[in-house]
Amino acid sequence: MSNKSKVSIIGAGGNVGSIVAYSIAMQGLSHEVVLVDRDIDRAKGKALDMNQAASAVRTHSVVKAAESYEDVRDSSVVVITAGFPRKEGMSRDDLVIKNAEIIKDIVTNVKEVAPDAILIIVTNPLDTMTYLAIKESGFDPNRVIGMAGILDGARMTHFIHEKLGYGAGQIRATVIGGHGDYMVPLIRYSTVAGIPLSDLLSYEDISEIVTKTKHGGGDIIKLLGTSAYFAPGKAAAIMVEAVLKDSKKIYPCATLLNGEYGYSDIVNGVPVMLGKNGVEKIIEVSLNESERKQFDRSVKSVQELLEVLKKNQFIKD
Ligand code: NAI
Ligand code: 2OP
Repeated sequence: MSNKSKVSIIGAGGNVGSIVAYSIAMQGLSHEVVLVDRDIDRAKGKALDMNQAASAVRTHSVVKAAESYEDVRDSSVVVITAGFPRKEGMSRDDLVIKNAEIIKDIVTNVKEVAPDAILIIVTNPLDTMTYLAIKESGFDPNRVIGMAGILDGARMTHFIHEKLGYGAGQIRATVIGGHGDYMVPLIRYSTVAGIPLSDLLSYEDISEIVTKTKHGGGDIIKLLGTSAYFAPGKAAAIMVEAVLKDSKKIYPCATLLNGEYGYSDIVNGVPVMLGKNGVEKIIEVSLNESERKQFDRSVKSVQELLEVLKKNQFIKD
């Protein structure tokens, strides 16, 4: 890993962006961590606080608040968390127009100053915003990646442990599909110490876990009044780490499909290998009939939102 790398987080004055930045700074993943927010004072306050935390743990990361996009220049990775979060009763889809305006503006600025960066998109609705960022940046699609599957898989992992009461740290849960009501928790690809979930839990218990996973984000909104940020922030930082370390690890991420899973020109969550070039390989896992139906439904829900973007002239037909 180069310790000269620079990571910029756009929207870092907010909940998710500040956790992304904090995780990167605490791990010393990047020498420079740049916080960009339209509320510059908030970014400055967070940068001071994080720098003092970095000093306490003696990492080499230096956190800086951006005065303008000039401070983002030559970033290796740019994480975009700017945008409105979901409020109670609001679907991820309600956010589409408001956040499309924000993504368009940010990507236009980023591509000028960091044309070689890997972009990690967090803003919701995730798959649609990732698609928009790909089109707006003109970057090679493997350099624009959406964060969702790591978070949704972590939620499923948590609910499996909650149900089992053992196996913490040994549970692997896989969730593919879009980040929304039609995400696809893959029971067949979820294990505890390598043991298939179906050998450990009843059908009813597994169904409950699947439902809780799908509602994982919404249930936190009900309690907090805003959306989750610790797990989403950490999940995005895990992607940054894989890119900076060129780790070639496999994670479910939102990526542009080009024939894989039978789809083209659509973004959806699938397992990918992450490295210094972003998505370096898309892994095609075999899906049974029920999983395939769910995946198709999930793709359809992203296509429906892309129609909204087309109607509102954000993307061309
Ligand atoms: P927040 O409101 O705490 O933070 C958003 C920040 O973006 C604010 O500080 C705001 O000033 C800033 N911002 C807005 N427009 C900007 C612009 N044009 N340039 C620079 N900064 C700008 O919201 P939170 O909770 O951090 O959520 C951020 C986004 O992440 C939301 O869209 C939310 O739905 C999404 N999200 C996605 C998840 C996923 O799994 N992909 C999980 C959790 C949240
Ligand atoms: C979440 O899943 C709302 O997308 C956000 O927490």
